[in-house]
Amino acid sequence: MEKLQVLILDDEPGIRSEIEEFLVEMNFEVFQAGSPSEAFRLLGERTIDVAIVDIRLPEMDGIDVLQEIKRQYLNTEVIMITAHGEMDSVIRCMRLGAIDFFNKPFRLKDLDRAIQKTKAYLQFQSKQQSCTASISKVSNELAPFIGHEIIGTSRQMQEVVKFMCNVSSSDKTTVLISGESGTGKELVAKGIHYLSQRKRQPFHSINCASVPDELFESEFFGHTKGAFSGAVAEKAGWFEASHRGTLFMDEIGDLKLSTQPKFLRVLDDMIVTRLGSTKGVKIDVRVIAATNHSLDSLVEDGLFRPDLYYRLNSFTIHLPPLRKRKEDIIPLFQHFLRAYAKAIEKQIDNVDSRVFEWLPEYYFPGNVRELKHMVERAIILCNGTTLDLSHFINPGKKLSNLYTIRTDDGMTSLHELEKQTIIQSLAKAKYVKSHAARLLNISRQALDRKIDKFKISI
Ligand SMILES: Nc1ncnc2c1ncn2[C@@H]1O[C@H](COP(=O)(O)OP(=O)(O)OP(=O)(O)O)[C@@H](O)[C@H]1O
Ligand SMILES: [Mg+2]
Repeated sequence: MEKLQVLILDDEPGIRSEIEEFLVEMNFEVFQAGSPSEAFRLLGERTIDVAIVDIRLPEMDGIDVLQEIKRQYLNTEVIMITAHGEMDSVIRCMRLGAIDFFNKPFRLKDLDRAIQKTKAYLQFQSKQQSCTASISKVSNELAPFIGHEIIGTSRQMQEVVKFMCNVSSSDKTTVLISGESGTGKELVAKGIHYLSQRKRQPFHSINCASVPDELFESEFFGHTKGAFSGAVAEKAGWFEASHRGTLFMDEIGDLKLSTQPKFLRVLDDMIVTRLGSTKGVKIDVRVIAATNHSLDSLVEDGLFRPDLYYRLNSFTIHLPPLRKRKEDIIPLFQHFLRAYAKAIEKQIDNVDSRVFEWLPEYYFPGNVRELKHMVERAIILCNGTTLDLSHFINPGKKLSNLYTIRTDDGMTSLHELEKQTIIQSLAKAKYVKSHAARLLNISRQALDRKIDKFKISI
């Protein structure tokens, strides 16, 4: 990678020089601007990789500068300098696409962290463009560790595999995986771990939603004997247990606000202190977090700290739901069919063609996990050697509640009526959405929108 070009925009010359000194030592090429107009002149003259922008500036608000840079200079990443404790501004910067922030008065450590994160991100991006990793190659490499192949031919899955390969090589950065339930978040986390240098070390997966708040610290940080009633023996927490390996923290959005600062501190310092002890233990753990909520909206609702969000989102990947990558449905179906029929020693010779028509049209609210369970159930239900649609759906059951939902005054609401008509048409069309749309005399896209609107799970 060539020398990174960094622009510092701050009206205080002392701060500019201090930051410059630090960056020059890190072998960056540095430009200084005391005002937004000077900064935009520099941005117009050369390619700036990173702009460090103070929020409080003469002429123009730093947030407006951020917005303008993001609009005009797509390849420039922006780090914001905020006044300590200004969480509202941090949220606004996050929404506008700043890669990180550090507080004023600034500490070298925070500046360093923001720069390292940006550098790793820029390296990752240039790798991502040149990466040629194929799904089958990665799948073969991972199969001995995760016990099965990674299936998928869609453009989105190819992107996911590229992401796994590239991010696995930057060993310490945290990763944030988002996606609906059952889309493969844990699979991707394992993939990153087993493709990385850490693959011979532990991989622990903990669901944050299942750890009671009062036990969070002892579970994750460990405790000494007698630290609290019930602490009968000394115990290492998940961080120490994952030393040199990877800690996968599922449903990170469920972390209580009160525990978030403690977790943030561990991520920052990589030092854990067992409950009841005063001695910190240095650890080396890669944290991969996953969420099926949108963390951005939790931040906006004040339920998730923006500084923790920034710490986690160095590398983020969103796993699209199965209905948005339909090419993967049949290969996954065949994979689960082969695997499960073999596991229970049942011979399935044929699959009725209507199953292949129906599957890509199904909504899959439970994504890959639902498809997997669906295939298992169908194989169990099948008495012969041919799978047909009756092994997958039971339209009669779906119709049972039709027209029974009434509003308080005894009238069926228009809203409910529309919803029920859609459910009925879907059932009539054996859940082939294009057929149901034809029955309703609306387009497929309109039907999709209504299914989303009414949250109909098919
Ligand atoms: N591309 C894939 N190829 C093969 N198997 C897959 C694929 N994606 C997911 N699976 C399988 O589907 C199941 C669900 O995946 P996983 O547990 O990773 O989902 P998740 O996103 O973590 O779900 P949740 O949000 O409910 O925790 C697992 O058995 C996993 O191995
Ligand atoms: Mg999971």
